[in-house]
Amino acid sequence: MRPTTALVTAGVLASGASAENYLGFNSGATLADRSAKFKADFEAEFKTAQGLENAPGTFNAVRLYTNIQAYSQDDPIEAFEAAIETKTKLLLGIWTSGTSSIEKELSALKKAVDKYGKDFTDLVIGMSIGSEDLYRDSETGIINKAGIGAGPQVIVNFINEYKKAFADTALASVPIGHVDTWDAWTNGTNKVVIDAVDWVGVDEYPYYENGKGNDIKNSGQLFDRAFNAVAGVVGEKPIWVTETGWPATGPNWDQAVASVENAKYYWNEVGCRKLFNKVPTFWYNLRDSNPDNEMKFAITNNLSTKPLFDLTCPTTFETPSSTTSSDSSSSTGFTTSVTSAGGAASTGGSSTESGSSGSGGSGTGSAAATSSSPVTGSSSSMGKTLSAAAVASLALVAGMFALL
Ligand SMILES: *[C@@H]1O[C@H](CO)[C@@H](O)[C@H](O)[C@H]1NC(C)=O
Ligand SMILES: *[C@@H]1O[C@H](CO)[C@@H](O)[C@H](O)[C@H]1NC(C)=O
Repeated sequence: MRPTTALVTAGVLASGASAENYLGFNSGATLADRSAKFKADFEAEFKTAQGLENAPGTFNAVRLYTNIQAYSQDDPIEAFEAAIETKTKLLLGIWTSGTSSIEKELSALKKAVDKYGKDFTDLVIGMSIGSEDLYRDSETGIINKAGIGAGPQVIVNFINEYKKAFADTALASVPIGHVDTWDAWTNGTNKVVIDAVDWVGVDEYPYYENGKGNDIKNSGQLFDRAFNAVAGVVGEKPIWVTETGWPATGPNWDQAVASVENAKYYWNEVGCRKLFNKVPTFWYNLRDSNPDNEMKFAITNNLSTKPLFDLTCPTTFETPSSTTSSDSSSSTGFTTSVTSAGGAASTGGSSTESGSSGSGGSGTGSAAATSSSPVTGSSSSMGKTLSAAAVASLALVAGMFALL
């Protein structure tokens, strides 16, 4: 890690922080069999996303976890070409755990800027430096063996390194964020990351909030509490919901039941009621890519434009209206539980994509290693245990690649 701290002050806030409420999905670098995704795979995804029947808007954005084509050293990920062909907006990601260098990420991105020019850079709506690194380094993440993370100063240093590398390019005005679980953001030690970003990316999975009454009927309220807790600490910075969803199949998780019916309920009560066209949203997910996760989040089978459930949004909702963000923390008692539980209460999970593919190009990890195993520790923590081991090994692999 190089000391780029001095650059922090040089980082003028990107002016491009947009009020546009993007609609998109997440997209890992590999398929469910861990093989690399190529241009045609991404193109099929992006076309399906844009053509979804009865969608409450056009899903023409995508969140990537890495700039690197799976299993390559530093070739640009072929999702870029697919995005250009389909006019899909790009929330880019740089993998920052298990590595002391993001050189290959930066190199792949530079190649793409040089090769595709404006066709590419005009589509880039955001850059996330890191994904759930702080969660993996938190008490809960450690209990859950979530894998190798990175601390707040590491993230800040990588943000500055990225800014420096792209200061004179068309990407200089692209707003920079970091993605993490909600309780990573409410942890005061991580405030330096909030200070360093233009927008805050939150991954929220009420499904994994065991010990908190995570029955589907409470999912909207659990979502709101976590969202409001983050809103309470980020000041004026916009919040982007970078991952959320409810599995259609898989084992139960405390009171949470995976089913198509519940996935639809969650779509309505969280997506339609709270997010779509109101908050930049990247749903989890259009298609599954993590074979280790028993929970399947895909809303389509074989990328059919006719999803597993009707995407039509209802006009009325069952979730009680929540208090405003400023009120909620005190009224719900949520804050208390967060602190007292040491944050474990919260993490809801994340899905997980391990980004190992991102660093070093081992494509292996990339795709969402969603949490799948039972939580070892506190009931409240989300479980990403299963994937944890997988992620950790991937991260080690990635780290080795980074040394090459
Ligand atoms: C808060 O964040 C710091 C830095 O990321 C981490 O070391 C610590 O474990 C976190 N606290 C909890 C309770 O997880
Ligand atoms: C759909 O996916 C299944 C595997 O999930 C596969 O066996 C089947 O051939 C696919 N169907 C079509 C029409 O592509």
